[in-house]
Amino acid sequence: MVIDLTGDSTSEGEDIYHEAIKTSFNNADLLLATFKHQPKSHKTQRKLQELRIVPIQNSSSSSEAESCVSFGSRKRRRDETDSPASSLPGHHGLSDFFLVHNTPKKVAGMYAKVKDVKRSTTKFNRGVRTFQPPQKSRRTPLDLQNLYAKKVASINGPPVHITFNDNSRIVDFNFEFISNYKMQEGVYPVDSNFHAGCDCIGAKCNLRSCSCLSQEEDSLERIIPYRVGDAGVIILRDEFMRRKSMIYECSLLCNCDWNCMNKVVERGRTVRLEIFQTRNRGFGLRSADFIQAGQYIDCYLGEVVTKVEADDREAATSNNRASYLFSLDFLVDQDDDDIYVVDGRKFGSVTRFMNHSCKPNCQMFPVSHNHADQHIFGLAFFAVTDIPPGKELTFDYHPNWKSDGNLDIDPDAVKCLCGEKNCRGQLWPNQRKTLHN
Ligand SMILES: C[S@@+](CC[C@H](N)C(=O)[O-])C[C@H]1O[C@@H](n2cnc3c(N)ncnc32)[C@H](O)[C@@H]1O
Ligand SMILES: [Zn+2]
Ligand SMILES: [Zn+2]
Ligand SMILES: [Zn+2]
Repeated sequence: MVIDLTGDSTSEGEDIYHEAIKTSFNNADLLLATFKHQPKSHKTQRKLQELRIVPIQNSSSSSEAESCVSFGSRKRRRDETDSPASSLPGHHGLSDFFLVHNTPKKVAGMYAKVKDVKRSTTKFNRGVRTFQPPQKSRRTPLDLQNLYAKKVASINGPPVHITFNDNSRIVDFNFEFISNYKMQEGVYPVDSNFHAGCDCIGAKCNLRSCSCLSQEEDSLERIIPYRVGDAGVIILRDEFMRRKSMIYECSLLCNCDWNCMNKVVERGRTVRLEIFQTRNRGFGLRSADFIQAGQYIDCYLGEVVTKVEADDREAATSNNRASYLFSLDFLVDQDDDDIYVVDGRKFGSVTRFMNHSCKPNCQMFPVSHNHADQHIFGLAFFAVTDIPPGKELTFDYHPNWKSDGNLDIDPDAVKCLCGEKNCRGQLWPNQRKTLHN
């Protein structure tokens, strides 16, 4: 629909524009207005453009340009004889704007010369905006590398570096580092009133009686996860690494101080890390430090989402894209619908760059600090062998998958490129791409 607005000859300045703007002409494809002066303010000019109001310069206050349909409370005036509409039977719904014959000679301004046009063959330009594809980032690979180097430099703890191959042209790294889980819709952590700590007396816990530690099923003995390793580094006990248990650590709720032996994950990362580009598996993670077996590395972080949301996210991701979903199914059945999943794709920690290996040197151990929440707990990576500096850190993405010697590879599964002799050939037993405990 075309609405033709023109000010009457007494209209001065910008009032006609203001009135046009105030009046909502949402149904109009085009508004036409006659004006005496160009609107002075840029804001008005911009608004006119947005509303697709086309100003027609009225170079004089003569009645020539007053052949118009005015708006609002103004009276409708039309010089019937001037309008070709008058020669048509009844109302034809077209505006005087199409006065292609007898157009007032004095029309000037943004309309150049008025031509004689055959209306039946003339296309009406409705001023539709053409689709503009989103602008590609003007950042060069080097800009991006500098940006990511800055991002990793801001991570808490010992330095994290990122190195790129000389030939790295595409850096798909649209990602933010976080230092805590990001709870998303539908995720309900246990109320903090249920959180528990120990009341050991003194700065350090008595591990034989500390109530933070869980007990063996068949005795009252406490399960102690840590011991002092080489160079005073606190590491996981060998027997703890062999069993499948949650690490129950002390926390700020406990009486003990910061140096309590049962606060390893709580104290945070102690090794330097480097994100680097592998030959064939995207980015990977390694350390410039020697890491002893049992030593803590870092926790997996991300958005905590419901399983339904994780399923939707997985379905929306093409099969050949990297997966960053980590299931929080250690204490509850992995088929339960009420499990939560950590998604490290958009937000996460440096461990999201750890690749899978069928012969890994690291393992994830679940860790609880509040001792109350079965659905939300920490995903802490520890070395399971001594790892020399520079060696890639890896873990098994599906440690409970027993291939039963059947190494038939599903053509649709994600191929494993770990290169180990015992390689299972694919990262997950089925097409579901979720990292597991
Ligand atoms: C948690 S990400 C690991 C970091 C990833 N390489 C990156 O560049 O962001 C998991 C993804 O890495 C790739 N990946 C990890 N280990 C792999 C392996 N052994 N063989 C092939 N691809 C692997 C797969 O695309 C997988 O979905
Ligand atoms: Zn204690
Ligand atoms: Zn404690
Ligand atoms: Zn493999």
